[in-house]
Amino acid sequence: MLVVGGAGYIGSHAARLLRKEGFDVVIYDNLSTGYASLVHGFELVQGDIADSERLSGVMRRVTAVMHFAAHAYVGESVENPRKYFRNNVECGLLLLNAAIDAGVGHFISSSTCAVYGLPNTVPIPENTTRQPVNPYGVSKLFFEQALESYGRAYGLRFASLRYFNAAGADEGGETGECHIPETHLIPLALQAAAGTGDKLQIFGGDYATPDGTCIRDYIHVNDLAAAHVKALHYLIAGGSSVALNLGTGRGYSVLEVVRTVEEVVGKVVPKHVGPRRPGDPPALVADPSYAQKLFQWRATRSLHEIVSTAWNWMRHRETQVGLGSAS
Ligand SMILES: NC(=O)c1ccc[n+]([C@@H]2O[C@H](COP(=O)([O-])OP(=O)(O)OC[C@H]3O[C@@H](n4cnc5c(N)ncnc54)[C@H](O)[C@@H]3O)[C@@H](O)[C@H]2O)c1
Repeated sequence: MLVVGGAGYIGSHAARLLRKEGFDVVIYDNLSTGYASLVHGFELVQGDIADSERLSGVMRRVTAVMHFAAHAYVGESVENPRKYFRNNVECGLLLLNAAIDAGVGHFISSSTCAVYGLPNTVPIPENTTRQPVNPYGVSKLFFEQALESYGRAYGLRFASLRYFNAAGADEGGETGECHIPETHLIPLALQAAAGTGDKLQIFGGDYATPDGTCIRDYIHVNDLAAAHVKALHYLIAGGSSVALNLGTGRGYSVLEVVRTVEEVVGKVVPKHVGPRRPGDPPALVADPSYAQKLFQWRATRSLHEIVSTAWNWMRHRETQVGLGSAS
């Protein structure tokens, strides 16, 4: 089993669960935003997905690939689309070609709710029109469509897993989120509460939502990892290619998340409510019923567990990755 981008946030959780489930795991990662220390004890091949020679050597040893390697900052993708199309599209295709050439039959790929853009219907089912509104979403939609074409032409069976907001950290404290710069709400709110980060900037308090702030569907990263393992078993058992939403089906507003952070940390989150950010939909919540039915899977961890595990990780991560702790 090749976990590409496995030294990053979501990939390092999936790699652990795969190993626990008895799969032989090889990690392939260029460590551009990942950390070797997060995959201590795993076989790590350091390389770029654009390095077809190195990749093909590893690819020949596996029958399935999980692909987490991408750039994933929406704002940066608007300012520097070239970087996103290069890594997520051009390099992504080289990875896909290497998989096909090596005879890999199963491919599981990280997609995102950003492929939907500004959907009219919430909760969002999978048959919602895909109309991304930023280059990051466009790059992910392209990759989904490349998989569809390769599936038709070469018989590759794949799962495009559209994550909503991945959050939280491994309950055992072995891995967690270390994005630099950090743009995700929960770590930013935790840092603000702990006094190790800036005051939390809230983008918009005048949306048509109950408290005026945006609503998102936060899913624990180990619930995501569990869905990946289910997807792998499903493909191995002969299941046909799918695109699935991975979320909880329950949305929380920014202020609800802030209150949960305050409960967990026991301190107030200093915050400032500023203007809306262009392109932010008021609410993005998954309809996860298809994945639940197909995989007999559901996200089980609560928002409180998400925030508690993220807080635990933030306080202890200095020892793991040398990043500042928050206590
Ligand atoms: N974090 C979220 O909330 C979220 C939501 C939706 C989708 N996603 C998608 O999930 C995937 C993983 O996201 P993450 O948050 O774990 O990000 P991350 O940056 O922590 O992990 C990405 C990993 O891929 C590696 N990588 C990047 N480009 C590479 C390349 N060219 N060659 C080899 N390795 C490369 C990085 O070093 C890193 O270890 C991404 O595809 C992202 O678009 C994330």
